[in-house]
Amino acid sequence: MFLHTLGVVLQLLSLGAALNSRSNTFSQRCSSLVAELQIPNATISFTEHIGANVTLRLPIGDPSCGRSSQLITTDLCRVGLNISTSARSSFRMEAWLPQNWTGRFLSVGNGGLGGCIQFEDIEYATSLGFAAVGTNNGHDGMTGETFLNRDVVEDFAYRALHTGVVAGKDISKTFYGKTHTKSYYLGCSTGGRQGFKSVQAFPGDFDGVVAGAPAFAFNNLTSWSSHFLPLTGLQNASTFVPIGMWLAIHQDILKQCDTIDGAADGILESPELCNYDPAGLVCAPGQNTSCLTPLQADTVRSIYSPLLASDGSLVYPRLEPGAEATEAPFTYFQGQPFGASDWFKYAIFQNASWDPLSLSPKDYDLSSRLNLFNIETWDGDLSAFKNKGGKLIHYHGVADGIIPSSNSPRYYEHVSQTMNLTSDKLDDFYRYFTVSGMAHCGGGPGASFIGNSRRNSASLKPEENVLIAAVRWLETGIAPDTITGTAYRNGTVSSGVDYKRRHCRWPSRNVFSGKGDIKNEDSWKCVLD
Ligand SMILES: *[C@@H]1O[C@H](CO)[C@@H](O)[C@H](O)[C@H]1NC(C)=O
Ligand SMILES: *[C@@H]1O[C@H](CO)[C@@H](O)[C@H](O)[C@H]1NC(C)=O
Ligand SMILES: *[C@@H]1O[C@H](CO)[C@@H](O)[C@H](O)[C@H]1NC(C)=O
Ligand SMILES: *[C@@H]1O[C@H](CO)[C@@H](O)[C@H](O)[C@H]1NC(C)=O
Ligand SMILES: *[C@@H]1O[C@H](CO)[C@@H](O)[C@H](O)[C@H]1NC(C)=O
Ligand SMILES: *[C@@H]1O[C@H](CO)[C@@H](O)[C@H](O)[C@H]1NC(C)=O
Ligand SMILES: *[C@@H]1O[C@H](CO)[C@@H](O)[C@H](O)[C@H]1NC(C)=O
Ligand SMILES: *[C@@H]1O[C@H](CO)[C@@H](O)[C@H](O)[C@H]1NC(C)=O
Ligand SMILES: *[C@@H]1O[C@H](CO)[C@@H](O)[C@H](O)[C@H]1NC(C)=O
Ligand SMILES: *[C@@H]1O[C@H](CO)[C@@H](O)[C@H](O)[C@H]1NC(C)=O
Repeated sequence: MFLHTLGVVLQLLSLGAALNSRSNTFSQRCSSLVAELQIPNATISFTEHIGANVTLRLPIGDPSCGRSSQLITTDLCRVGLNISTSARSSFRMEAWLPQNWTGRFLSVGNGGLGGCIQFEDIEYATSLGFAAVGTNNGHDGMTGETFLNRDVVEDFAYRALHTGVVAGKDISKTFYGKTHTKSYYLGCSTGGRQGFKSVQAFPGDFDGVVAGAPAFAFNNLTSWSSHFLPLTGLQNASTFVPIGMWLAIHQDILKQCDTIDGAADGILESPELCNYDPAGLVCAPGQNTSCLTPLQADTVRSIYSPLLASDGSLVYPRLEPGAEATEAPFTYFQGQPFGASDWFKYAIFQNASWDPLSLSPKDYDLSSRLNLFNIETWDGDLSAFKNKGGKLIHYHGVADGIIPSSNSPRYYEHVSQTMNLTSDKLDDFYRYFTVSGMAHCGGGPGASFIGNSRRNSASLKPEENVLIAAVRWLETGIAPDTITGTAYRNGTVSSGVDYKRRHCRWPSRNVFSGKGDIKNEDSWKCVLD
């Protein structure tokens, strides 16, 4: 009797709460979720309701992740869990479930060798009404020590993302009481590779995929990234190009190639057409400053050439001219080991003393043949994804100084050949956009704001935002022909919009018509050669 009365009182209380405040009910749903979830192999660490405009402190995760706080802009239920993937591997993930849910599900990806939950991307997605998940990809932090354990490598290659998506959809369904309508993916760099891994190997995971600057051909990319140290040598080597010379090299590249697209605007639309020759920078007799020795000029030539195996076959295409203006000099040209050489050290050689300066072509070959857990991510048959009606948006910043944009069309052609589809047929489900003046996943001197992240978002119009474009394509059938990027003055949003430019869909390229203002998007045309 007493219990019964208490029950009624509680019901009345919660009814009153519901009438007074929807968010209170939402908050209660969130607290009770912890007891309802039944995720295989998982430990639920917490569920908590977070109101809009709260800044979340992020004590978890490795300091190398560089994420200490995150502003939340919409009411949501935050779920943290840990899933074991084998007797000696596990990953952490979070699922953020917004109150203002559109019915859509989304997973974000990772970056580099990380190891870091990309809270900023999860937040971006929840602010747009997606139930969103992300994982730490099987280990914490940006370094590779944990790859000594090959189970951790397997998580990194494909397993953490896929397992997290299966769990995340389950969490979303339990929380909202119904299955999501459509499932999306958003990622860049390693996140781009993960998107392609899903399309290739887990076509059921997503209906719409946005994958940028993909780190696919992963083994060979890692060989390429790690070959700069032996190529340039240490800073005291005669082959080493003084860091101060890269500005002059960039100017020289613009002198030779800026007008190939018809416009002298400091932006190369099609660097693949630029055959740069540094001969003009070689020191005159007696000159010893602001010039290159013949040995240094050879280093520059090698940097802008494809990386070949000992038998002459292609390991990885070249760095594109223009990338010397973004990340490449301080990433690859400093005479210091690049972080990704941890892949060789821990995953390939499993030898913490391995010397990155000793990398040689036989190591490229070893890594490529070993191809741990098919991390190469180079399968060209996307039929299963196509046949289920999936839509794939691929983009790459043409001034990317970390992952060269030259490798993206190479994959596109690989799919075209494997599936025997010309680009007008590929267009039905797979479109690749070249984003001029964009550095690695964002930034850069051009119209690089395309909505691939919150920081990189100028607009929620589908014409100007790759994620919204994917939603529109999948849900209404209107496919993106171009992606309009925005450039801000000084690259700073607060300084105001400088100009916009429509980025073209491969294989067409952007050409200035020769008439009108270079900063007017209508002065440009996508042309097929
Ligand atoms: C969050 O902050 C912004 C700007 O201060 C304000 O406009 C908005 O109303 C706030 N939202 C909520 C839900 O408090
Ligand atoms: C996840 O849980 C397992 C088993 O309890 C534990 O060994 C592992 O350290 C946890 N992993 C993380 C990332 O918290
Ligand atoms: C649970 O983990 C074990 C390995 O520890 C694995 O074999 C099994 O497939 C996992 N179950 C699910 C549903 O992922
Ligand atoms: C909920 O989302 C819709 C778009 O999906 C948006 O128009 C609306 O402003 C959002 N409401 C709140 C309270 O965030
Ligand atoms: C360059 O410096 C390294 C140590 O920093 C030294 O071992 C090497 O001998 C030097 N090489 C030349 C060519 O001076
Ligand atoms: C560069 O040339 C100047 C003038 O010819 C000379 O004084 C100087 O020692 C040279 N410096 C080097 C590093 O060779
Ligand atoms: C990777 O490099 C090897 C040579 O080491 C080459 O045979 C292979 O085709 C390359 N793979 C890709 C995906 O480019
Ligand atoms: C690890 O690498 C170091 C440096 O290259 C080498 O001397 C050593 O023999 C390697 N150890 C093993 C077990 O391969
Ligand atoms: C490729 O497609 C063309 C035209 O659709 C067709 O004629 C040809 O037989 C196909 N080739 C293969 C190898 O399937
Ligand atoms: C752009 O930056 C430069 C140098 O930092 C500064 O002098 C200039 O005023 C800035 N322009 C705008 C529009 O913010």
